[in-house]
Amino acid sequence: MWTARTAFVLCVAIFPYLYQQKNPPPPLQVYVFINGLPDEKPWPELKLPELLGSGTVKALHAAIESEWDSLRRSACQMAAGRALWKHVIHDEVAELLAGETYLKNIYEKIKNDRLNNAKEIHGVILAVRTLWFDSKLEAALSSFDGGGAQVVLLGAGMDARSYRLNCLKESNIFEVDFPEVLNAKTTILEEAVNSRGLVTPKSLSRVAADLTEDDWLEKLQTSGFEPMKNTVWILEGLLYYLSHTHAMKLLRTIAEKCNITHTVLLADFMNKQATTLSSSTYHFYCDWPDELLPSLGFSDVKLSQIGDPDARFGLLQDPLNLFDKLRNLPRSIQIHPDDGTPCCRLYLLQACGLPSS
Ligand SMILES: C[S@@+](CC[C@H](N)C(=O)[O-])C[C@H]1O[C@@H](n2cnc3c(N)ncnc32)[C@H](O)[C@@H]1O
Repeated sequence: MWTARTAFVLCVAIFPYLYQQKNPPPPLQVYVFINGLPDEKPWPELKLPELLGSGTVKALHAAIESEWDSLRRSACQMAAGRALWKHVIHDEVAELLAGETYLKNIYEKIKNDRLNNAKEIHGVILAVRTLWFDSKLEAALSSFDGGGAQVVLLGAGMDARSYRLNCLKESNIFEVDFPEVLNAKTTILEEAVNSRGLVTPKSLSRVAADLTEDDWLEKLQTSGFEPMKNTVWILEGLLYYLSHTHAMKLLRTIAEKCNITHTVLLADFMNKQATTLSSSTYHFYCDWPDELLPSLGFSDVKLSQIGDPDARFGLLQDPLNLFDKLRNLPRSIQIHPDDGTPCCRLYLLQACGLPSS
Protein backbone atom coordinates (compact mmCIF):
# COMPACT_ATOMS: atom_id res chain seq x y z
CA MET A 1 0.00 0.00 0.00
CA TRP A 2 2.83 2.38 0.84
CA THR A 3 5.31 2.20 -2.00
CA ALA A 4 8.25 4.42 -3.06
CA ARG A 5 7.30 7.10 -0.59
CA THR A 6 7.86 4.70 2.25
CA ALA A 7 11.58 4.85 1.59
CA PHE A 8 11.59 8.53 2.51
CA VAL A 9 9.34 8.18 5.50
CA LEU A 10 11.40 6.20 7.92
CA CYS A 11 11.09 7.11 11.51
CA VAL A 12 12.84 4.38 13.38
CA ALA A 13 12.32 4.15 17.11
CA ILE A 14 15.11 2.16 18.69
CA PHE A 15 15.18 1.90 22.40
CA PRO A 16 18.62 2.71 23.76
CA TYR A 17 20.21 0.01 25.85
CA LEU A 18 21.96 2.03 28.48
CA TYR A 19 22.25 -0.75 31.01
CA GLN A 20 23.24 -3.44 28.61
CA GLN A 21 26.14 -4.81 30.63
CA LYS A 22 24.03 -5.58 33.69
CA ASN A 23 20.73 -6.47 32.10
CA PRO A 24 20.16 -8.62 29.08
CA PRO A 25 18.72 -6.37 26.39
CA PRO A 26 15.01 -6.65 25.70
CA PRO A 27 14.13 -7.67 22.16
CA LEU A 28 14.98 -4.86 19.75
CA GLN A 29 11.83 -3.11 18.66
CA VAL A 30 11.88 -1.21 15.40
CA TYR A 31 8.76 0.50 14.19
CA VAL A 32 8.27 2.34 10.94
CA PHE A 33 5.76 5.10 11.44
CA ILE A 34 3.81 6.93 8.82
CA ASN A 35 1.58 9.74 9.97
CA GLY A 36 1.35 8.24 13.40
CA LEU A 37 0.70 4.57 12.66
CA PRO A 38 3.18 1.80 12.11
CA ASP A 39 3.33 1.41 8.33
CA GLU A 40 2.07 -2.13 8.18
CA LYS A 41 -0.86 -1.58 10.54
CA PRO A 42 -4.32 -0.78 9.28
CA TRP A 43 -6.09 2.19 10.82
CA PRO A 44 -8.05 1.03 13.88
CA GLU A 45 -11.47 -0.06 12.66
CA LEU A 46 -14.51 2.03 13.43
CA LYS A 47 -16.60 0.10 15.92
CA LEU A 48 -19.65 1.98 17.11
CA PRO A 49 -20.19 1.54 20.85
CA GLU A 50 -23.46 -0.10 21.80
CA LEU A 51 -24.49 2.88 23.90
CA LEU A 52 -24.66 5.05 20.76
CA GLY A 53 -27.63 2.97 19.63
CA SER A 54 -29.41 3.19 22.98
CA GLY A 55 -32.60 5.24 23.46
CA THR A 56 -31.38 8.37 25.22
CA VAL A 57 -28.03 8.77 23.49
CA LYS A 58 -29.46 7.97 20.07
CA ALA A 59 -32.29 10.46 20.46
CA LEU A 60 -29.89 13.10 21.69
CA HIS A 61 -27.62 12.77 18.66
CA ALA A 62 -30.64 12.88 16.35
CA ALA A 63 -31.63 16.17 17.99
CA ILE A 64 -28.08 17.51 17.74
CA GLU A 65 -28.08 16.83 14.00
CA SER A 66 -31.46 18.34 13.32
CA GLU A 67 -31.55 21.23 15.78
CA TRP A 68 -28.04 22.52 16.45
CA ASP A 69 -26.26 25.08 14.33
CA SER A 70 -22.85 24.36 12.87
CA LEU A 71 -21.07 26.25 15.66
CA ARG A 72 -22.47 23.96 18.35
CA ARG A 73 -22.09 20.87 16.16
CA SER A 74 -18.38 21.65 15.78
CA ALA A 75 -18.07 20.26 19.32
CA CYS A 76 -19.13 16.80 18.08
CA GLN A 77 -16.82 17.02 15.08
CA MET A 78 -13.84 17.56 17.36
CA ALA A 79 -14.84 14.60 19.52
CA ALA A 80 -15.11 12.44 16.38
CA GLY A 81 -11.59 13.43 15.38
CA ARG A 82 -10.24 12.43 18.76
CA ALA A 83 -12.19 9.16 18.70
CA LEU A 84 -10.65 8.22 15.36
CA TRP A 85 -7.13 9.03 16.49
CA LYS A 86 -7.60 6.83 19.53
CA HIS A 87 -4.24 5.16 19.00
CA VAL A 88 -2.69 8.43 20.19
CA ILE A 89 -5.47 10.10 22.19
CA HIS A 90 -6.93 7.83 24.83
CA ASP A 91 -10.39 9.28 25.18
CA GLU A 92 -12.81 6.53 26.13
CA VAL A 93 -15.95 8.64 25.70
CA ALA A 94 -15.07 10.52 22.51
CA GLU A 95 -17.14 8.18 20.32
CA LEU A 96 -20.21 8.62 22.48
CA LEU A 97 -19.86 12.38 22.48
CA ALA A 98 -19.25 12.52 18.74
CA GLY A 99 -22.19 10.50 17.46
CA GLU A 100 -22.44 8.09 14.55
CA THR A 101 -22.70 10.58 11.68
CA TYR A 102 -19.46 12.42 12.45
CA LEU A 103 -17.62 9.24 13.24
CA LYS A 104 -18.56 7.66 9.91
CA ASN A 105 -17.86 10.85 8.01
CA ILE A 106 -14.35 11.32 9.40
CA TYR A 107 -13.57 7.60 9.19
CA GLU A 108 -14.29 7.71 5.43
CA LYS A 109 -11.97 10.68 5.00
CA ILE A 110 -9.19 8.92 6.89
CA LYS A 111 -9.69 5.78 4.82
CA ASN A 112 -9.47 7.74 1.58
CA ASP A 113 -6.36 9.60 2.71
CA ARG A 114 -4.69 6.30 3.55
CA LEU A 115 -5.69 4.78 0.21
CA ASN A 116 -4.39 7.81 -1.67
CA ASN A 117 -1.10 7.93 0.21
CA ALA A 118 -1.93 11.43 1.41
CA LYS A 119 0.93 13.29 3.03
CA GLU A 120 -1.33 14.24 5.92
CA ILE A 121 -4.13 12.07 7.21
CA HIS A 122 -7.43 13.77 7.98
CA GLY A 123 -7.60 14.90 11.59
CA VAL A 124 -3.86 15.07 12.16
CA ILE A 125 -4.07 18.77 13.06
CA LEU A 126 -6.67 18.01 15.68
CA ALA A 127 -4.60 15.12 17.07
CA VAL A 128 -1.46 17.26 17.33
CA ARG A 129 -3.42 20.16 18.77
CA THR A 130 -5.04 17.97 21.43
CA LEU A 131 -1.71 16.45 22.46
CA TRP A 132 -0.07 19.89 22.53
CA PHE A 133 -2.79 21.24 24.87
CA ASP A 134 -2.53 18.10 27.03
CA SER A 135 1.22 18.43 27.41
CA LYS A 136 1.23 22.19 28.05
CA LEU A 137 -1.62 21.84 30.54
CA GLU A 138 0.30 19.21 32.47
CA ALA A 139 3.43 21.38 32.46
CA ALA A 140 1.46 24.44 33.60
CA LEU A 141 -0.13 22.57 36.49
CA SER A 142 3.21 21.31 37.69
CA SER A 143 4.70 24.83 37.44
CA PHE A 144 2.39 26.19 40.14
CA ASP A 145 3.98 25.91 43.53
CA GLY A 146 1.24 24.52 45.69
CA GLY A 147 -2.02 26.21 46.55
CA GLY A 148 -4.05 24.14 44.10
CA ALA A 149 -5.13 25.26 40.69
CA GLN A 150 -8.25 25.72 38.69
CA VAL A 151 -8.60 24.99 35.01
CA VAL A 152 -11.14 26.80 32.87
CA LEU A 153 -12.05 25.40 29.47
CA LEU A 154 -13.78 28.10 27.44
CA GLY A 155 -15.81 26.62 24.58
CA ALA A 156 -15.25 23.21 26.18
CA GLY A 157 -17.59 21.48 23.75
CA MET A 158 -17.33 17.68 23.95
CA ASP A 159 -13.79 17.75 25.32
CA ALA A 160 -13.40 14.97 27.92
CA ARG A 161 -10.02 16.09 29.19
CA SER A 162 -11.28 16.25 32.73
CA TYR A 163 -12.00 12.52 32.56
CA ARG A 164 -8.92 11.38 30.73
CA LEU A 165 -5.98 13.36 32.18
CA ASN A 166 -4.44 12.27 35.46
CA CYS A 167 -2.88 15.68 35.93
CA LEU A 168 -6.38 17.12 36.36
CA LYS A 169 -7.32 14.81 39.21
CA GLU A 170 -6.60 17.44 41.88
CA SER A 171 -7.82 20.52 40.01
CA ASN A 172 -11.09 22.36 40.09
CA ILE A 173 -12.30 22.26 36.51
CA PHE A 174 -14.79 24.60 34.86
CA GLU A 175 -16.25 23.91 31.44
CA VAL A 176 -17.95 26.86 29.77
CA ASP A 177 -20.11 26.51 26.66
CA PHE A 178 -23.65 27.08 25.42
CA PRO A 179 -26.32 25.44 27.62
CA GLU A 180 -27.46 23.00 24.89
CA VAL A 181 -23.93 21.70 24.41
CA LEU A 182 -23.28 21.21 28.12
CA ASN A 183 -26.68 19.63 28.76
CA ALA A 184 -26.17 17.10 25.98
CA LYS A 185 -22.66 16.35 27.21
CA THR A 186 -23.87 15.86 30.79
CA THR A 187 -26.61 13.46 29.69
CA ILE A 188 -24.30 11.39 27.51
CA LEU A 189 -21.65 11.18 30.21
CA GLU A 190 -24.23 10.20 32.83
CA GLU A 191 -25.21 7.32 30.56
CA ALA A 192 -21.54 6.35 30.35
CA VAL A 193 -21.18 6.51 34.13
CA ASN A 194 -24.25 4.30 34.59
CA SER A 195 -23.48 1.72 31.94
CA ARG A 196 -19.69 1.63 31.84
CA GLY A 197 -18.73 2.82 35.28
CA LEU A 198 -16.95 5.88 33.91
CA VAL A 199 -15.26 7.63 36.83
CA THR A 200 -16.35 11.23 37.27
CA PRO A 201 -13.82 13.97 38.01
CA LYS A 202 -13.53 15.12 41.63
CA SER A 203 -14.43 18.73 40.95
CA LEU A 204 -16.03 19.65 37.66
CA SER A 205 -18.50 22.48 37.15
CA ARG A 206 -20.30 23.07 33.88
CA VAL A 207 -21.08 26.72 33.32
CA ALA A 208 -23.70 27.47 30.70
CA ALA A 209 -22.87 30.83 29.17
CA ASP A 210 -22.48 32.67 25.90
CA LEU A 211 -18.94 33.98 25.75
CA THR A 212 -20.05 36.92 23.65
CA GLU A 213 -22.25 38.15 26.49
CA ASP A 214 -20.99 40.27 29.37
CA ASP A 215 -22.08 37.93 32.14
CA TRP A 216 -19.98 34.82 31.52
CA LEU A 217 -17.31 35.71 34.08
CA GLU A 218 -19.94 36.41 36.70
CA LYS A 219 -21.54 33.03 35.93
CA LEU A 220 -18.13 31.40 36.26
CA GLN A 221 -17.63 32.99 39.67
CA THR A 222 -21.09 32.00 40.80
CA SER A 223 -20.11 28.42 39.94
CA GLY A 224 -17.13 28.57 42.28
CA PHE A 225 -14.31 30.08 40.21
CA GLU A 226 -11.94 31.92 42.56
CA PRO A 227 -10.22 34.96 41.00
CA MET A 228 -7.26 34.70 43.45
CA LYS A 229 -6.44 31.06 42.70
CA ASN A 230 -3.81 29.88 40.17
CA THR A 231 -5.61 29.37 36.90
CA VAL A 232 -5.01 27.72 33.54
CA TRP A 233 -7.27 28.99 30.77
CA ILE A 234 -7.81 26.67 27.82
CA LEU A 235 -9.15 28.18 24.62
CA GLU A 236 -8.90 25.29 22.20
CA GLY A 237 -10.68 25.64 18.87
CA LEU A 238 -12.59 28.69 20.08
CA LEU A 239 -11.21 32.11 19.19
CA TYR A 240 -11.64 31.99 15.42
CA TYR A 241 -15.39 31.30 15.77
CA LEU A 242 -15.78 34.66 17.52
CA SER A 243 -15.87 38.11 15.97
CA HIS A 244 -12.75 40.25 16.31
CA THR A 245 -14.45 42.38 18.97
CA HIS A 246 -15.59 39.41 21.04
CA ALA A 247 -12.29 37.53 20.79
CA MET A 248 -10.30 40.59 21.84
CA LYS A 249 -12.67 41.29 24.73
CA LEU A 250 -12.29 37.70 25.92
CA LEU A 251 -8.50 37.86 25.75
CA ARG A 252 -8.48 41.20 27.61
CA THR A 253 -10.70 39.75 30.35
CA ILE A 254 -8.24 36.88 30.87
CA ALA A 255 -5.25 39.24 30.66
CA GLU A 256 -6.68 41.28 33.53
CA LYS A 257 -6.42 38.15 35.70
CA CYS A 258 -2.64 38.18 35.20
CA ASN A 259 -2.48 41.14 37.61
CA ILE A 260 -4.27 39.17 40.31
CA THR A 261 -2.83 35.66 40.28
CA HIS A 262 -0.55 33.19 38.49
CA THR A 263 -2.32 32.73 35.18
CA VAL A 264 -1.52 30.51 32.23
CA LEU A 265 -3.21 30.89 28.86
CA LEU A 266 -3.20 28.12 26.26
CA ALA A 267 -4.93 29.03 23.01
CA ASP A 268 -4.83 28.41 19.29
CA PHE A 269 -5.08 31.17 16.69
CA MET A 270 -5.69 31.03 12.94
CA ASN A 271 -3.79 33.36 10.69
CA LYS A 272 -5.74 35.46 8.18
CA GLN A 273 -5.29 32.99 5.33
CA ALA A 274 -6.66 30.12 7.42
CA THR A 275 -9.93 31.96 8.08
CA THR A 276 -10.48 32.31 4.32
CA LEU A 277 -10.99 28.52 4.19
CA SER A 278 -14.53 29.27 5.38
CA SER A 279 -15.19 32.95 5.82
CA SER A 280 -18.74 32.29 7.02
CA THR A 281 -17.44 30.08 9.87
CA TYR A 282 -14.16 31.68 10.89
CA HIS A 283 -13.91 35.31 11.86
CA PHE A 284 -11.17 36.29 14.28
CA TYR A 285 -7.61 35.85 13.09
CA CYS A 286 -4.22 37.05 14.17
CA ASP A 287 -1.03 36.76 12.13
CA TRP A 288 1.19 37.72 15.06
CA PRO A 289 -0.38 36.40 18.28
CA ASP A 290 3.10 36.36 19.82
CA GLU A 291 3.01 40.18 19.58
CA LEU A 292 -0.66 40.57 20.46
CA LEU A 293 -0.48 38.69 23.78
CA PRO A 294 2.42 40.71 25.27
CA SER A 295 0.60 43.89 24.24
CA LEU A 296 -2.34 42.73 26.37
CA GLY A 297 -0.15 42.10 29.41
CA PHE A 298 0.88 38.44 29.05
CA SER A 299 4.49 37.43 29.50
CA ASP A 300 6.62 34.40 28.57
CA VAL A 301 4.71 34.08 25.31
CA LYS A 302 5.72 31.09 23.21
CA LEU A 303 4.36 30.32 19.77
CA SER A 304 4.44 26.88 18.21
CA GLN A 305 3.32 25.74 14.81
CA ILE A 306 2.07 22.28 13.93
CA GLY A 307 5.23 20.33 13.20
CA ASP A 308 7.50 22.17 15.64
CA PRO A 309 9.43 19.86 17.98
CA ASP A 310 6.85 20.38 20.75
CA ALA A 311 3.95 19.95 18.33
CA ARG A 312 4.55 16.85 16.22
CA PHE A 313 4.25 13.84 18.54
CA GLY A 314 5.61 11.52 15.85
CA LEU A 315 2.57 12.15 13.67
CA LEU A 316 4.15 14.03 10.75
CA GLN A 317 6.71 11.71 9.26
CA ASP A 318 6.29 12.43 5.57
CA PRO A 319 9.13 14.85 4.74
CA LEU A 320 6.90 16.57 2.20
CA ASN A 321 4.11 17.23 4.67
CA LEU A 322 2.33 20.54 4.43
CA PHE A 323 3.17 21.65 7.94
CA ASP A 324 6.93 21.37 7.57
CA LYS A 325 6.69 23.18 4.24
CA LEU A 326 4.91 26.04 5.99
CA ARG A 327 7.27 26.12 8.93
CA ASN A 328 10.18 26.53 6.55
CA LEU A 329 8.70 29.73 5.13
CA PRO A 330 8.81 33.10 6.90
CA ARG A 331 5.53 33.69 8.68
CA SER A 332 5.01 36.96 6.79
CA ILE A 333 4.54 35.04 3.53
CA GLN A 334 0.87 34.69 2.66
CA ILE A 335 1.06 32.69 -0.57
CA HIS A 336 3.29 29.66 -1.01
CA PRO A 337 5.93 30.56 -3.64
CA ASP A 338 6.13 26.96 -4.98
CA ASP A 339 2.48 26.27 -5.66
CA GLY A 340 0.56 29.52 -5.19
CA THR A 341 -1.57 28.10 -2.35
CA PRO A 342 -2.50 30.27 0.64
CA CYS A 343 -0.33 29.75 3.71
CA CYS A 344 -3.00 28.66 6.21
CA ARG A 345 -1.47 28.41 9.63
CA LEU A 346 -2.67 27.35 13.06
CA TYR A 347 -0.64 28.88 15.85
CA LEU A 348 -0.46 27.27 19.29
CA LEU A 349 0.21 29.84 21.98
CA GLN A 350 1.21 29.56 25.60
CA ALA A 351 1.51 32.64 27.75
CA CYS A 352 1.44 33.47 31.39
CA GLY A 353 1.01 36.23 33.86
CA LEU A 354 2.24 36.68 37.38
CA PRO A 355 1.43 39.66 39.63
CA SER A 356 4.64 41.65 40.14
CA SER A 357 4.50 41.62 43.91
C1 LIG B 1 -14.62 23.59 17.63
S1 LIG B 1 -15.46 23.39 19.11
C2 LIG B 1 -14.11 23.09 20.22
C3 LIG B 1 -14.56 22.35 21.44
C4 LIG B 1 -13.44 21.92 22.37
N1 LIG B 1 -12.69 23.00 22.87
C5 LIG B 1 -12.54 20.92 21.68
O1 LIG B 1 -11.40 21.24 21.38
O2 LIG B 1 -13.02 19.80 21.45
C6 LIG B 1 -15.93 25.06 19.54
C7 LIG B 1 -16.75 25.13 20.81
O3 LIG B 1 -16.86 26.50 21.19
C8 LIG B 1 -18.18 26.72 21.62
N2 LIG B 1 -18.48 28.15 21.45
C9 LIG B 1 -18.31 28.90 20.33
N3 LIG B 1 -18.74 30.14 20.53
C10 LIG B 1 -19.20 30.19 21.81
C11 LIG B 1 -19.78 31.20 22.60
N4 LIG B 1 -20.02 32.42 22.11
N5 LIG B 1 -20.12 30.91 23.87
C12 LIG B 1 -19.92 29.67 24.37
N6 LIG B 1 -19.36 28.66 23.67
C13 LIG B 1 -19.02 28.92 22.40
C14 LIG B 1 -19.03 25.85 20.70
O4 LIG B 1 -20.31 25.61 21.23
C15 LIG B 1 -18.18 24.61 20.61
O5 LIG B 1 -18.48 23.71 21.64
